[in-house]
Amino acid sequence: MNYNITVIPGDGIGPEIVAETRKVLNQIGEKFGHNFTYTEILMGGVSIDATGVPLTKEALDTARNSDSVLLGAIGGNVGKSDWYSLPPHLRPEAGLLAIRKGLNLFTNIRPAVLFPELKDASPLREDIIGDGFDFVVMRELTGGLYFGERNTMIENGIRTATDTLTYDENEIKRIAKWAFTIARKRRRKICSVDKANVLDSSRLWRQVTEEVAKDYPDVELSHMLVDNCAMQLVKDPRQFDVILTENMFGDILSDEASMITGSIGMLASASLGDTKLGLYEPSHGSAPDIAGQNKANPIATILSAAMMLRYSFDLEREAEAVESAVKSVLKKGYRTIDIMSKGMTLVGTKEMGDQISSEI
Ligand code: IPM
Ligand code: MG
Repeated sequence: MNYNITVIPGDGIGPEIVAETRKVLNQIGEKFGHNFTYTEILMGGVSIDATGVPLTKEALDTARNSDSVLLGAIGGNVGKSDWYSLPPHLRPEAGLLAIRKGLNLFTNIRPAVLFPELKDASPLREDIIGDGFDFVVMRELTGGLYFGERNTMIENGIRTATDTLTYDENEIKRIAKWAFTIARKRRRKICSVDKANVLDSSRLWRQVTEEVAKDYPDVELSHMLVDNCAMQLVKDPRQFDVILTENMFGDILSDEASMITGSIGMLASASLGDTKLGLYEPSHGSAPDIAGQNKANPIATILSAAMMLRYSFDLEREAEAVESAVKSVLKKGYRTIDIMSKGMTLVGTKEMGDQISSEI
């Protein structure tokens, strides 16, 4: 079968990690008889330099008309660029928010998995890690504070800034349904995270998730306040299976979740909506300090491509082939610098891509 993939190399290490991911996808294509066609678009800083805006309408249309989107990373001033002196709606990150909103990708799935081979990299104590943890953060991605009305003004000589947090029941319902669907493929436990002791939007969130839960009696739903969740993640991460939460809380908690795995260079993510079209990107950023040096870890992007095969193309066998190739390369002791430890073999971005491809 033929699949049209929009590719966004982006900024910093983006182009390097995307190149290795294409290598791996091509290998999958060869082995399983698929054809992946790539169309590159600009987003983020490179788009600002070329067009003046972080995402053009044409680029968004290309993405919309493809089968799926693969993103490296965007943002972080690279070289002499000065993207952050621009007004907020023209900065690199505005491109990312625009593509999420433009493609209606309201669900973000960020797995937090402790790879047994990389246990030592976790900042958590051994007795807390136990035999490891494996949960996902499901973050609402097109609502809440990120997309509410905002305003900065001077009132009676005092500078005042406002951001608004709004959710309607439909926005909550649709991501809750996604969470229950994913939970059914896992350990059937959802912890919905909110701030219902203070926020109206959280009280509605709690109500609606309870209502949706009635259609999934085989899945256990519990609720946790976000401050407590931040604490529980470092105290006992093994209690979690699916964490379901709104946009801003999810932004913060997913960084914490990735940190406790000790290997942010390993963590994938998928952004999904109502159709098969998804956006797949590593959970880490553009790491401009190591860009162009063949040092970046391409594994998070490669594992994001595995999520693409699974969620956008329904190619489960192919997704598993990518994941087990990554595992066996780790088992053989190959490491990029970010996950290097004593006695292992240090490799660069390209060599890591080659190793994973040759395992497929
Ligand atoms: C993320 C990032 C983005 C976000 C930034 C770059 C706008 O932190 O994907 O988590 O806050 O959503
Ligand atoms: Mg973030």
